[in-house]
This record gives sequence, structure tokens and C-alpha cells, in this order.
Amino acid sequence: MTTSLLKVLLIAFGGPSSSGKTTAAKALQTILPKSLLVHLDDFYLPSDLIPYDEEVKEQNWDVPEAIDFNKFKTYIDGLRTGKGLNIQIDSLEGDTPLKLDLKGQLKFKTLLNQYPTLFNHDEETIFVLVDGFMLYHDPKITELFDIRFFFHAPYETLKYRREHRHGYNTDVGVWVDPPGYFDRLVWPGYVKTHKYLFINEDVDQELTDYAKETLQLQEFKNDDSLSLEDMVQWSLQTIITKLS
Ligand SMILES: Nc1ncnc2c1ncn2[C@@H]1O[C@H](COP(=O)(O)OP(=O)(O)O)[C@@H](O)[C@H]1O
Ligand SMILES: [Mg+2]
Repeated sequence: MTTSLLKVLLIAFGGPSSSGKTTAAKALQTILPKSLLVHLDDFYLPSDLIPYDEEVKEQNWDVPEAIDFNKFKTYIDGLRTGKGLNIQIDSLEGDTPLKLDLKGQLKFKTLLNQYPTLFNHDEETIFVLVDGFMLYHDPKITELFDIRFFFHAPYETLKYRREHRHGYNTDVGVWVDPPGYFDRLVWPGYVKTHKYLFINEDVDQELTDYAKETLQLQEFKNDDSLSLEDMVQWSLQTIITKLS
């Protein structure tokens, strides 16, 4: 009897809040032959340990210190070796119902079928899709991944989407943003941790060569002119190019 080789491909879906990370990752999970979805949000510290911002007088869920990165890194390292693949994380991620219709899915499955190596059972590829708002603030975390998607969109778009969300599940209930939360904590938290990736440290400008070439961030500007299908098409194409 021959045992098949297991290849684990770790794909990061990073970027600011409401940039489309979870939507894209969930969509790809329904299309890729064998995949596992991981949400960084499931590695938040217990809510009573989330940092408190003295100036804004709110808990701040939008800083790296709110996440248990040791636990996250250990988990990802376990997936990389294949040993941790059957360790299930209880997920709090309940929002974002997937809006990809059957016709859309069929179209992408047809696209994938042109790449039979993906279904080669002698070398089985498991796609680990990791969705998180803090995957590129620290190169030590960024380097855990083989493919690094960076979703982002202009301030106004992100603010509108975030402020129209119903809330987030936490270990103790549902977190609903207090008024002004996006402007006071979410956006500044993103800018502070991600500006080093942009020319002139300005998140409205282009990515630096360091971000594109050294960190190999694959950028997708997901403003409202693009559809879920565009996002999926681009993500799949990028994965296929990387594997070919
Ligand atoms: N291209 C787009 N056009 C319009 N709405 C979008 C687009 N991409 C994402 N959205 C919407 O924005 C919201 C946030 O998306 P989500 O994937 O949950 O973001 P994230 O996981 O990055 O916080 C969802 O309601 C989603 O449907
Ligand atoms: Mg999300």
C-alpha cells in the first residue's frame, strides 16, 4: 500500500476590518477540493483581558495585544506539519452568510478542473485558509504563510461596511461597536500597524516594494465596484499561478 504525500498550503486572508477577508475565505472554502478555515478572531483573549483604551474609554479589540499570538502561532505550526489538522477550534465566527450562488460555484469548479494536479491523490494538497485582521503587522506572523492576500478598501467604504454590521460574537455574548468606534479605534489601529507597508506611510497610497516583493503581499483593492465573484476569481487565479 502506498501512502499519499500530504502537502499543506497556508493561505492568509489579511487586511483591515470589513475588507472582505471572511467572505473571500468562506467562498474559497466551498470551492477548493480540501480546505480548512481558520479565523484569527477565534484567538482573541478572553473578553476581560482585552486591552482598555484609557483615552477613548473603551475596550480596544483592534490592537495586536488583544490576540493570543502564542496560541495562534502554535496552532498554525501544528497545521504546517499536518499533525494539527484534526484539532478542531470552536469558532465564534457566525456572521457573513455566504452570497455565492450555485451558478458561481460551478463556474469556479470548472476553472479548477483545468488544473488536475490539484486533485492528484498521490500528493494531496490541503488548503488552510486563515482569515485575520492582524496577519501583516509583524513579519514573524506574515512569514507563517505561503500565499498572502491583502484585502483593503478606502476608509469611507470600510467605515460604511463596519457600521452596518450587526456585531461580533465573543466568549461572553455579542460585541456591538459603541458610536464612533470605527473612527476612534478600528481605523487608527489599522493605520498604526499597517502604515509601514505603504509608500510615505500613507494607507491611501500604493504598497512599498518591501510589502510587494519581500513580504510578497498580493493586494486586492476590494471597493464596492467589485463583486464576490471578482474576489473569488482573483484569489483562485493567484493560487493556481502560485501552484503552477
Ligand atoms: N466588494 C464588495 N462589495 C460590497 N460589499 C462587500 C464587498 N466585499 C465585502 N462586502 C461586504 O462587507 C461586509 C464585510 O465583509 P467581511 O468579509 O465580513 O469582512 P472582514 O472579514 O474583512 O471583516 C460584508 O457584509 C460583505 O458582504
Ligand atoms: Mg471577518
